[in-house]
Amino acid sequence: MNRTVPIAKGIAGAPGSAEPHDSALGHVTGTARFIDDVPEPSGTLHAALGLSEHAHAAFALDNEAAQEAPEVVAVLTAADLPHNDVSPTGKQDDPVLADGVALFHGQPLFAVIAETRDAARRAVRLAEVTYTPRPAVLTIADAAPGGDLVTEPLTLAIGDAEAAIAAAPRRLAGRMEIGGQDHLYLEGQIALAIPGEAGEMRVLSSTQHPSEVQHMVAHALGLPSAAVTVEVRRMGGAFGGKETQANLFAVVAAVAARRTGRPVKLRPDRDEDMLATGKRHDMAVEYAVGFDDAGHIRGVEATYAARCGFSADLSGPVTDRALFHADNCYRYPAARLTSRPLRTNTVSNTAFRGFGGPQGMLGAERIIEEVAYATGLDPLAVRRANLYRDGDLTPYHQAIEGCILERLVDELEDGADYQARRAAVLAFNARNPVLRRGIALVPVKFGISFTATWYNQAGALVHLYRDGSVQLNHGGTEMGQGLHTKVAQVVADAFQIDLGAVRVTATATDKVPNTSATAASSGTDLNAAAAADAAGQIRARLVAFAAESHGVPTDQVVFEPGTVRIGGKRMPFAELVEAAYMARVHLSAAGFYRTPEIHWDRKAGRGRPFYYYAFGAAVAEAEIDTLTGEYLFRRVDILHDVGRSLNPALDIGQIEGGFIQGLGWLTSEELWWDAEGRLRTHAPSTYKIPLASDIPRDFRVRLASWSENAKPTVRRSKAVGEPPLMLAMAGFEALSMAVASLADYRECPRLDAPATPERVLMACERLRARA
Ligand code: MTE
Ligand code: HPA
Repeated sequence: MNRTVPIAKGIAGAPGSAEPHDSALGHVTGTARFIDDVPEPSGTLHAALGLSEHAHAAFALDNEAAQEAPEVVAVLTAADLPHNDVSPTGKQDDPVLADGVALFHGQPLFAVIAETRDAARRAVRLAEVTYTPRPAVLTIADAAPGGDLVTEPLTLAIGDAEAAIAAAPRRLAGRMEIGGQDHLYLEGQIALAIPGEAGEMRVLSSTQHPSEVQHMVAHALGLPSAAVTVEVRRMGGAFGGKETQANLFAVVAAVAARRTGRPVKLRPDRDEDMLATGKRHDMAVEYAVGFDDAGHIRGVEATYAARCGFSADLSGPVTDRALFHADNCYRYPAARLTSRPLRTNTVSNTAFRGFGGPQGMLGAERIIEEVAYATGLDPLAVRRANLYRDGDLTPYHQAIEGCILERLVDELEDGADYQARRAAVLAFNARNPVLRRGIALVPVKFGISFTATWYNQAGALVHLYRDGSVQLNHGGTEMGQGLHTKVAQVVADAFQIDLGAVRVTATATDKVPNTSATAASSGTDLNAAAAADAAGQIRARLVAFAAESHGVPTDQVVFEPGTVRIGGKRMPFAELVEAAYMARVHLSAAGFYRTPEIHWDRKAGRGRPFYYYAFGAAVAEAEIDTLTGEYLFRRVDILHDVGRSLNPALDIGQIEGGFIQGLGWLTSEELWWDAEGRLRTHAPSTYKIPLASDIPRDFRVRLASWSENAKPTVRRSKAVGEPPLMLAMAGFEALSMAVASLADYRECPRLDAPATPERVLMACERLRARA
């Protein structure tokens, strides 16, 4: 593991050092508290949800038996919710509890509130629901082409794509289906609502977006936001699945708490959680590409149709981001890219690590592979022939800056010994009739910033106590990614104190207001900058005080590890703080940050939606059994760009975890709905996330330690949360090459995602039949 790049020396835990996650010990010893571990206030009631058993049906509810069941206190229906909506975009299409018509199988229809969780769950089964089924639109194929859209589609255009394709020496067209993905966070959705005095409500919610939960709860209760406080200490994973999906659970708990006057907790079962909450969008990409014999792309036309589910949720920005990434790392001289966010009678799909970007990029990589097989070139040569360089324009007319793709690809090609290993793979395949291998090098570029420009702001609150210890609060939430540790490192550095002296407290809407979701990988960029601003204000006051009280100019007050040098004197940090307190210096500050330079005009399809790009590249080598479709990954090499790393241990953890999560999405994780629209893969027994045994046999992850963000982010670091997930495309394309060997690499296999062993086998059979 790369544990280098120390930036500051002297204090323990300085930015750049490989500090462990601040809850690492708590996670492994079971002492880190999640909401279900918090002792319940006395009198806490429990809620359970009754879910629709039809994909589309009018329904009538007779809840008398449930109401009469032992220990049941109340049953809530849509009628109990005067403001029955948790739509994050104000579209008002996301009821908390369905009102007379169920729009997907698994939709919450009612909630039972009881003395115990068990009693509530048992009573749910006693409610009688009579359904009058209606026709259901379930799949992309059902919905397209005339389908109803959940939100305004987007088109990105540069040049004249149609003319460029028509004029190109060669052209081809194709289609790829890309599956969705369940978040499978270890800690499921949960909310505990605690009523206070004068109608106030405090909610512990497992959410990436406390301010939105606050807004939703206030709206549902008819309260001003100021009467609602939402708090989250940590989540046991979120991955985008708690960006909007936590709203419903918090609102049900809060409405029940208001109704009963008692605290109410709602923690659905894993199956209910998987049935009732949105997932990664599955998409179908149709593409046409014009190119020449050297593999240069002349023009691309692509349509990304997405199964959005019954409501818009975040499908607008998700399908937008698919288009923003439909170029991945490649210059399209002309392109026309269109989204089709389709309404279906399935759960409303939502944010998931990459936020549409992965689907967009997988389409781009399929186009590259198609061109490679058509021209007979190594796919890496086609990737190189089209790789972005500084100054190139994207389909949204943002100029590429700070592009390090060529260096990354060069170093990885060398470091992973790609050429020799590709030759060995070809030789292996020539010798072996059954087992076949594939190898692929795939680069990744991911745009950093929320495309909703106003989201790119953050606040922080820093308190410096008389003993020199620091309490830090900021608007970001901790979901396992290590955000709190990184932000604390930056604050410790500002005061030149050890990391151990900085304590991060639970994210809470009464400490830092109007926060954005912790999402789009921008948690550190935004919140560490806001925290640095707060710490900087206090530090400036300390400097002014020290200079004045010692009669020296301010430039002679220097913070050194644990001490402050004032003129010729040295003083322990805590001593200066105590003296400042006695002199009535304000030792607390609120900080703020907004990302500069970004703007986006969606109507015109032009702007600078991203402050910068994070890059990476991976080489994967796979081996398949062409008689069974089973496979394994022999080796994976990753070279990833996190700018100047704030914490190499956390960054490498994010890269490893992101890659494996991406590999799950593209290989074993298959969501399967039956003809009635029932999700049949609603538990880990049928929905297969990667196991420890699925990790590549040889897994080598390196940071591009020479990289620095060209933009003045916190210590020139870059965001890391989402981009590495897309590196898993190398694994997918390696599988594809192994399959292609069966037809002597003359054609690009039709391989949809996820490439389950069944799909790999079917792709093998198709090629065998033709060869
Ligand atoms: N890592 C862990 N362990 N758990 C998570 O839920 N979420 C990912 C990523 N890494 C996640 C994670 C997602 S979807 C995002 S957007 C980022 O973390 C969010 O955190 P950041 O902005 O602080 O990187
Ligand atoms: N990822 C990327 N972009 C986003 C997200 C996300 O989770 N949420 C809103 N915009």
